[in-house]
Amino acid sequence: MRTTFTEQLSIRYPIASAPMGGEADGALAAAVSNGGGFGMIGAGRGNRDWLAREAGIARAATEKAWGIGFLTWAIDADAIAYALDFEPAAIMLSFGDPAPFASRVHDSPAKLILQVTDLDEARRALDAGADIIVAQGSDAGGHCGENGIGTLSFVPAVVDLAGPTPVLAAGGIADGRGLAAALTLGASGALLGTRFQATPEALVSAELTGALLAADGQDTEINRTLDIARGAPWPHRYPARTLTNPFLDEWRDRDDELRSDTTALERYRTAAATGDLDAVPVWASQAVGLIKTSVSAERIVAEIVAEAERALARATAD
Ligand SMILES: Cc1cc2nc3c(=O)[nH]c(=O)nc-3n(C[C@H](O)[C@H](O)[C@H](O)COP(=O)(O)O)c2cc1C
Repeated sequence: MRTTFTEQLSIRYPIASAPMGGEADGALAAAVSNGGGFGMIGAGRGNRDWLAREAGIARAATEKAWGIGFLTWAIDADAIAYALDFEPAAIMLSFGDPAPFASRVHDSPAKLILQVTDLDEARRALDAGADIIVAQGSDAGGHCGENGIGTLSFVPAVVDLAGPTPVLAAGGIADGRGLAAALTLGASGALLGTRFQATPEALVSAELTGALLAADGQDTEINRTLDIARGAPWPHRYPARTLTNPFLDEWRDRDDELRSDTTALERYRTAAATGDLDAVPVWASQAVGLIKTSVSAERIVAEIVAEAERALARATAD
């Protein structure tokens, strides 16, 4: 399973874990990397203390390569400089214009990974000199492009555009069959979020893990409602795929009304303070129904590789 992605980062398997903000901690990144994949810490909006702690955990737990991801719209150049001091093998940027930050990464030994949600973003990522592009289809869990298209259609289009630049497929990949599909679409690997969120290493509650294991793909929907409720200043062009919940049922398609309803917003804050899953976002992809167990991230990497090999062999046997 050697690909240009595995060669670039000197890793064994073409599997990356998504830098899920606040949830993909140092333990998860290290476990994925120890399993032969490429683990990434989700530094989100760039909280320094959180990043320092989690990068320290990753460094202590693995000698393999690992990375750090940020939300591009929420950071400044200092966040990149701060992260590079921890010597990650890659910096991943998603959701926003990477141009102001690209040269800082290029001036370091770290690779620049850019996640894109449409072809315009893919072109800009190539212009910015991405070493690796993550093509995120609309099946994905978490934030996505408002006009995103499905992974099966989007990945080959980005592969065609990217030429020699390796592309990772993201969105709706949760097992070895998905990795095999990604490779046959021309991707150099797959990046998985939801699958690695449902592991003991991820920084999530037992209740949230239970909700993921119980859900099916049709229990997810793309919305801005929960970002409005929690007051998260996400750019309008990036809604998020979450599990449906009673708060969403009440406020779906009523974004403007919600923004100005102080009673509802207060009710949300009260529920969120206790992590009430009837209100808070559980970011999850259309592949969530394929996830039935919470097992270690290292084991997941091994299982995905073995299943992908079987799937590829089966697909070419007649
Ligand atoms: C819980 C969760 C949090 C996420 N947070 C981030 C983030 O902070 N930064 C980022 O680049 N992508 C984030 N993503 C999106 C992933 O990078 C990726 O596109 C997505 O997980 C791929 O789809 P999948 O969930 O089907 O594997 C998040 C995804 C999930 C499920």
